[in-house]
Amino acid sequence: MRNRGTELAALSGAFVVLDGGDGSGKTTLQGILAAELTQAGLSVVTCKDPGGTQIGNRIRSVLLDHDLTDMSASCETLLFMASRAQLVHEVVLPTLAAGGVVLCDRYVSSTCAYQGAIGPDRGKILELADYATGATWPDLTVVIDVPVEVCFERIRARNEVNASAAKTAGLDAMERRPLEFHERVRQNFLRLADDYPAPVCVVDGTPPVEEVARTILGELAAVGAADRGRSRGVARAVVAPA
Ligand code: TYD
Repeated sequence: MRNRGTELAALSGAFVVLDGGDGSGKTTLQGILAAELTQAGLSVVTCKDPGGTQIGNRIRSVLLDHDLTDMSASCETLLFMASRAQLVHEVVLPTLAAGGVVLCDRYVSSTCAYQGAIGPDRGKILELADYATGATWPDLTVVIDVPVEVCFERIRARNEVNASAAKTAGLDAMERRPLEFHERVRQNFLRLADDYPAPVCVVDGTPPVEEVARTILGELAAVGAADRGRSRGVARAVVAPA
């Protein structure tokens, strides 16, 4: 990959979120990006929302290990926010204060996309998020866009591999929701930049993962090169897919 060491090194103290539909490749990309940023000399902390703390993991299991049919949309929203409040308190803020980089798998953007597809409007979600996170907004949220059918095919293939390795396979409560729900989630991600109070870029997640990682590193280098104090609060869509 092209050497962007200096711009990337300037990401010290930056909060970066990777988001997108189930099966969009966030976890693989998080690993590649963490390695690249570490190589640029940064102290990188990766985390996952919901979860990432002991308390958050317990909330996560309530949300994902159970049938959500009977859970109200507001209960679901508040539980995601509760897990996130703990994550910000225990992991995100201390890391940023120490000059590290936080690379977080999902964040408030997921609540806008998923719970926004079933209940509370975006204004309410953003208001709750301000309270839960103490208005801790990412320097960049990268939305990895992949068509829903492709995501589902990837999840199916992954579960087959897991099953043959005798691990627990199967879909979590969110993945069991119908295709049409996930289509709404995708559309919500694509329009996230319209009113999200922090910078957003949308990256096409269908090319090979190394290529997607390169595109994201370009976006991160631009964040490193920018005056982050001034760029906070400016949402923008950079690579909008067709
Ligand atoms: P997870 O196993 O972390 O999915 P993935 O590995 O694809 O990120 O499960 C998280 C699920 O919870 C995922 O389907 C998205 C959903 N979710 C919400 O509905 N709202 C939220 O605020 C967050 C953070 C996740």
